Amino acid sequence: MQLILDTGNVEEIRELHSKLVIDGVTTNPSIVAGEKKNFLKLIMEIDEIVGEATAIHAQVLSTKYEDIIDEALFISKLRKNMYVKIPVTGDGFRAIKDLKKQGIKITATAIFTAHQGFLAAKAGADYVAPYVNRLDNISADGVGTVRDLVNIINTYHMDTKVLAASFKNAQQVLELMKIGVHSITAPADIIKAMMGHPLTDWSVAKFIEDWENEFGKGTKTNR
Ligand code: G3P
Repeated sequence: MQLILDTGNVEEIRELHSKLVIDGVTTNPSIVAGEKKNFLKLIMEIDEIVGEATAIHAQVLSTKYEDIIDEALFISKLRKNMYVKIPVTGDGFRAIKDLKKQGIKITATAIFTAHQGFLAAKAGADYVAPYVNRLDNISADGVGTVRDLVNIINTYHMDTKVLAASFKNAQQVLELMKIGVHSITAPADIIKAMMGHPLTDWSVAKFIEDWENEFGKGTKTNR
């Protein structure tokens, strides 16, 4: 499963990229606005941290077909490994289909049904991004929707990855890992919740205490 960071915070990206294997970074207009930085500058800063082998996904603001095409071509040329996120509106589907013919890498986003995800995959999207927690928030079944979409993509051997997005907690991520989701993008706090456990910290402290009680403070295996 690909593990992608859903943030534009360069400190968070630097920290988690140094500690874990991170397969990409996703942003959206809300995330970029939250960083209060020029869009181009932010993408270049992220690029400098993760390097060109790691994908960056950035989203168009345009809603009209011609404007989506213009903006998508601009974003696609910002760096080598660049995915253009396009919401699955009517004009968005049309743009995905036509941009794919030009070889642009595309992440279809703002997906709330398995139908939308299937149609975006059929249009040629490389990734389709269903929003788990926003579905849960309206008493719909976020994990169930992703499960259906993963099954559809796998059943028809489509060359598209489901990129589950919008998480409120690590348990939602775990439920999707259990059903074989292809990739997830989550904010830093969710990834950190996946990394840590209080008993890990307690165990490390206990190891040191037991060792130092016997061999003295500050001693180690190599001195
Ligand atoms: O990329 C989409 C994702 O960032 C949405 O997440 O938490 O705003 O619903 P959220």
